[in-house]
Amino acid sequence: MFGSVDGRIIQTIWGLKDHHKYFEEPAAKIKADAWLVGRVTMQEFCSKKKFKLSGKKSTLSKRDFVALQPVKKFAVVIDPKGKCFWDSNMVSSEHVIEVLTEQVSKPYLEHLRAKNVSYLFAGKKVLDLNLVLDKLNRLFGIKRVRIDGGGHVNGSFLKAGLIDEFSLVLAPLADGTIGAPTVFEVDQGYGKRLATHFNLLSAKRMYKDFLWIRYKTVRGKTIR
Ligand SMILES: NC(=O)c1ccc[n+]([C@@H]2O[C@H](COP(=O)([O-])OP(=O)(O)OC[C@H]3O[C@@H](n4cnc5c(N)ncnc54)[C@H](OP(=O)(O)O)[C@@H]3O)[C@@H](O)[C@H]2O)c1
Repeated sequence: MFGSVDGRIIQTIWGLKDHHKYFEEPAAKIKADAWLVGRVTMQEFCSKKKFKLSGKKSTLSKRDFVALQPVKKFAVVIDPKGKCFWDSNMVSSEHVIEVLTEQVSKPYLEHLRAKNVSYLFAGKKVLDLNLVLDKLNRLFGIKRVRIDGGGHVNGSFLKAGLIDEFSLVLAPLADGTIGAPTVFEVDQGYGKRLATHFNLLSAKRMYKDFLWIRYKTVRGKTIR
C-alpha cells in the first residue's frame, strides 16, 4: 500500500508527479501468483461501457468457473454483487478472477462467460475469505496473494486474520481528509476487537523522503 502519514490512500490532493510509481515499483518486488483488490479499486481497470444484461432465461448454475486460458498470473477482484463488467479477461498480463456471492444474477454470469472471465463463489450473501483463499489455491494453484487494497478489502482480510505481511510506502505528507479511506478500514467505533500488531522486517528510504516499510504480523498476541 501507498499511504500518507495519516494513513490515507487516495492521492487526489497529494500533488505527486508519476504517482503510480510509488505503489507499482515496490509492489513489483513482492513476488506473488496473484494480486487482489476490492470492487471499488478494480473499477479503474474494468470496462467503462454500460453493458445490458440479457433478459433470456439462463441455464447456468451458480458454480465456480475456471476459464481455459494460458496465463498463470491472476488479477482477483472481491465483487460480491457482480458490479464489474469486462471487455476482456485480462488486466495487463493477468487473468481476471471474480470472487462472487450467490446474490449475483445468472445474466451477470453469462456476461462473465462471454468474456471468458473466471469466477468463484464464496458465500450466499456474506463472503468467507478463508474459502476465497482456499479456492484460489485449489482451483488456480495460487500460493501467494498480494492484497493491493483498497482500505475496505485490506480491513476485511485483517479482521479475518489472513494477512501474514504488510508492506507500506509512506509518503512524506499529511492528507487530513475526514472520511477518506485509510490503509485498513475495519469497524466503526472502538471495543469490538484489539489492534493487530506487526514486527518490523525492514525499512528503506526511497525516492528521497519516502519510506518503504515491511512488517510481519504478530500471531496470537495483540497487547504488548
Ligand atoms: N494508495 C494505495 O496504495 C491504494 C491501493 C489500492 C486502492 N487505492 C484507492 O482506494 C480507493 C478504494 O478503496 P475502498 O476502501 O473504498 O474500496 P475497496 O477496498 O477497493 O473496495 C471495497 C468494496 O469491495 C467489496 N468488498 C471488500 N471486502 C469485502 C468483503 N469482505 N465482503 C464483501 N465485499 C467486500 C465491496 O464491494 P460492494 O460495494 O460492491 O459490495 C466493497 O464496497 C480507490 O480510490 C483506490 O484508487 C489506493
